[in-house]
Amino acid sequence: MDILGVSCFYHDSAVVLLRDGEIVAATMEERLSRKKHDSGFPHLSIDFCLERGGIQGPDLDYVVFYEKPMVKVGRILQTALGTFPRSWQFWREAVTAYVSEKFWIKTLLQQELGVRPEQILFCDHHMSHAASAFFASPYEEAAVITVDGVGEWTTTTMGTAKGSFSNGGQNHIDLFWEQRFPHSLGLLYSAFTAFLGFEVNEGEYKVMGMSPYGEPNYVDQVKKLVNLYQDGSFELNMDYFAYHYSATQSFNGKFTKLFGEPRVHGGDFFTAKSAPHRMNEKEAMQRNQYYADVAASIQVVTEEALVNMANALYERTKAKYLVMAGGVALNSVANYKILTETPFEDVYIQPAAGDDGGALGAALWAYHMVLGQPRKFVMTNTYYGEDYTDDEIRAFFDGKGIPYQCFEDDDALIDRVVDAMVAQDVIGLFQGRFEWGPRALGNRSILADPRRAEMKDIVNTKIKFREPCRPFAPVVPVERAAEYFDYPNVDKAMMPRFMLAVSPVKPDKMDVAQATTHEGGTGRLQTIDRETNWRYYELVRRFGEATGVPILMNTSFNLRGEPIVSSPADAWKTFSNSGIDWLMIGSILVGKDHKSV
Ligand SMILES: [Fe+2]
Repeated sequence: MDILGVSCFYHDSAVVLLRDGEIVAATMEERLSRKKHDSGFPHLSIDFCLERGGIQGPDLDYVVFYEKPMVKVGRILQTALGTFPRSWQFWREAVTAYVSEKFWIKTLLQQELGVRPEQILFCDHHMSHAASAFFASPYEEAAVITVDGVGEWTTTTMGTAKGSFSNGGQNHIDLFWEQRFPHSLGLLYSAFTAFLGFEVNEGEYKVMGMSPYGEPNYVDQVKKLVNLYQDGSFELNMDYFAYHYSATQSFNGKFTKLFGEPRVHGGDFFTAKSAPHRMNEKEAMQRNQYYADVAASIQVVTEEALVNMANALYERTKAKYLVMAGGVALNSVANYKILTETPFEDVYIQPAAGDDGGALGAALWAYHMVLGQPRKFVMTNTYYGEDYTDDEIRAFFDGKGIPYQCFEDDDALIDRVVDAMVAQDVIGLFQGRFEWGPRALGNRSILADPRRAEMKDIVNTKIKFREPCRPFAPVVPVERAAEYFDYPNVDKAMMPRFMLAVSPVKPDKMDVAQATTHEGGTGRLQTIDRETNWRYYELVRRFGEATGVPILMNTSFNLRGEPIVSSPADAWKTFSNSGIDWLMIGSILVGKDHKSV
């Protein structure tokens, strides 16, 4: 049975092809269209998934959309009427957008895919998040939290999920509590994202990255904006916000009265901790320090809200495990707190936790809950995108007349690349199918020696062309992770497989991998095992053999503001336009100008 899950027209469009409950192919549209956060109709992703499955649109059994457009239009209409006349312009713009796209989604899907109307299903937005987390997890029973900006009406849910791997048909997700728009932890965080000078829906992780440079001195002020209750629920004080009646403003004058003028959009961010060499720019530094303190404060309150919710949910369900999805579940600092400050034994977060993952959740919901089919799938890696054969890769480089060395023997290639990294060269690693979700996890990654702090600046400034202070992630063989990170049962833990939790570094290892140890002594670790990705695993393991440090610095293979590379042409372009020294692509190695292969 073939089910196509589709998410589009809001954030990141994405498509998943599910065959008999297992993923055949999954991708965000931006990877193929090369338009960052592409939210348009995912023509390219649909073509890729169908081709990968060897089928055409009319062969599909079902097509499932990740939300209910009519309910969403209803929410926009009702909100607009409730805040009229402040909202009239917002209403006009929103209706134009939604009526022209979402309203007609059923007709559009029918036409594009050649399926009958009764083959098209619509899944509630937060149910698609919940299903994406639970039915991808290894658990047969779990508590569920979904938390994002907003779906149709819902912004947060708590519930339970059941589904056995052995006796099929008993799958159930009960989202027994919900909070509704405009009360939203995601939109609260986004309001601060805008206040701190970053793009909403894009810069939230930068706020999280800024927070270790500040002190949470403004928690009391943030708590004027949000009330947290003992039962895990919360409410916002809407007097401070504008997003419920404005398409362009997240917060209003009362907010700026409390927090002062917003930080200049895109302005240079540095503090005494991140750039001690800029001490002569005292005034700017003090201003930045204030904003870092605000970032630390909203981060702390968000963590408190999530931990509060998870603890209340545990009390109610006594479940052993927690699964999470929704954009806020990508807050990797909060995720570690949820794991360590609640009684849950482990937490599974579906790696495409944002709205791209809704495509997966919608398909899984249809298969397991509408059709009652048994479970057999657990998502343990994210390699579901497009891949290229060595012949295709060689044809690309031959066509361009670019010299390269082809390795018959993978071991020799890995040893050669490890030698280069030990010599401080930076590697672009391109192999196999590209990753599902926002993280590069070893198939479209940039790798480098993490031992010296300077490598962070080299990769930030010469390769990614972004702010020098931005941190990178460490990847470590799973069996060595406990030596370096203070992460409970890290050898069995699910979140580090997908780089979804920021963990403290062991006190005696703080100086070992300086380029991946963040301010405050933490790292967003990825654990890797041989079965999941043996070449990637071997690169890290052999680097450890050569240097005594079994850790590599991993960052996504892209330039600032661009989607992660997908094809050999993308990889070559990024390689050529940056200071990456070597491109390890399939079984070939390409050197930069002066580097002889
Ligand atoms: Fe969402």
